[in-house]
Amino acid sequence: MSKVYVSMSADVVHNGHINVIKKAAELGEVVIGLLTDEAIATYKRPPLLSYVQRKEIVESIKGVTEVIPQTTLDYVENLRLLKPDYVVHGDDWKEGVQTQVRQRVIETLQEWGGELVEIPYTKGVSISKLDDLIREIGVTPDERRSRLRKILNLKKPLRILEAHNGLTGLIAEKTRLVVNGSVREFDGMWISSLCDSTAKGKPDIELVDLSSRINTINEIIEVTTKPIILDGDTGGLIEHFVFNVKTIERIGVSAIIIEDKVGLKKNSLFGTDVDQLQDSIEHFSAKISAGKHAQVTKDFMIIARIESLILKAGLDDALKRAKAYIDAGADGIMIHSKEKDPAEIIAFCREYSKFDRKVPLVAVPTTYNVLTEEELGKFGVDIVIHANHLLRSAYPAMLKTATTILENGRTLEADQNCMSIKEILTLIPGGA
Ligand code: SPV
Ligand code: MG
Repeated sequence: MSKVYVSMSADVVHNGHINVIKKAAELGEVVIGLLTDEAIATYKRPPLLSYVQRKEIVESIKGVTEVIPQTTLDYVENLRLLKPDYVVHGDDWKEGVQTQVRQRVIETLQEWGGELVEIPYTKGVSISKLDDLIREIGVTPDERRSRLRKILNLKKPLRILEAHNGLTGLIAEKTRLVVNGSVREFDGMWISSLCDSTAKGKPDIELVDLSSRINTINEIIEVTTKPIILDGDTGGLIEHFVFNVKTIERIGVSAIIIEDKVGLKKNSLFGTDVDQLQDSIEHFSAKISAGKHAQVTKDFMIIARIESLILKAGLDDALKRAKAYIDAGADGIMIHSKEKDPAEIIAFCREYSKFDRKVPLVAVPTTYNVLTEEELGKFGVDIVIHANHLLRSAYPAMLKTATTILENGRTLEADQNCMSIKEILTLIPGGA
């Protein structure tokens, strides 16, 4: 009997999948190459259902003989292993991001005279439309909160973008780009204290209180589904921190990052130009432990941010603190630097990689942005946060418009820098 290979992710199973399997079953014994969670995470949002759950579903579809894992988007490894007589796929992949994958399938099948059979794509079932529908339904706080740990296991590094209101949340949620045949998008959002404060016209000195910050988070939660990492500044008094952890955990935030400073907090990018005091290892460790005891779920993460490089306390101090904070229960370490040269960050990463006990490593490459996410990932960084760029790009644009209106006494000249009225009216669906 002929052997037929079909690859799929089958996270949302629809009649298109059934059509392909039916056709495949007419040709012979059907082996499904089911994309692993890691393979799916390389090109789109992580699957809603785990590999094991998806396998159980696909195995019970009529006509399927066997389900094996496909660990990359590329079929070649599995094809060489199975040497199928046929591969069956919808004809939609002749164009778009999958053309290269298709080409490699055709070339590989030629090695033993196999054949690619393409069937007309099932109309009306676009996975991206189904994805949009799922997004509209939204996520529960539990699902959103747990998603960060889930995707940390699937891809490296995660790419996180700053958001400070509903609109910037939507940009982080929806912006997508095809690069070298794969789809790139952000994995979650960073609620920066700098941007949240600046957007409210306030300095970044822990002046914007938690209630106000929760309003910002809720605005973002209402219109997005991706995980949220909160910039928790110093975390405040330990006695307050234990309550605040529960509050933000409850609304579905995945992680809080707190920095080891005490007294009046100033933004780290001032470095030693302003007075800033680092916390003692003992006191900050106690804050981490207290927070860990206060949280209710297993999913919530408390990430310890080390300010030693910012405050010129040196690499050894940073490493000593990283060890102590991990011992205190930190779920992640953020190492910060305000140098343009990434040398000190790279040095930290090198030493950190030698630790016996490691937790996910976070970097915020605002100044040393010569490094790409991929390069940071190779140095061992698990989460890359682009911490302030939406606000920093919006402000000059808005200022320019305001100045242009003053110059001309009308808005005609400013129009060229603005989106059209039609665009803004239809930007957010549901307004018409
Ligand atoms: C923020 O975005 O508020 C941060 C990162 O804490 S930094 O501004 O670099 O200190
Ligand atoms: Mg901050």
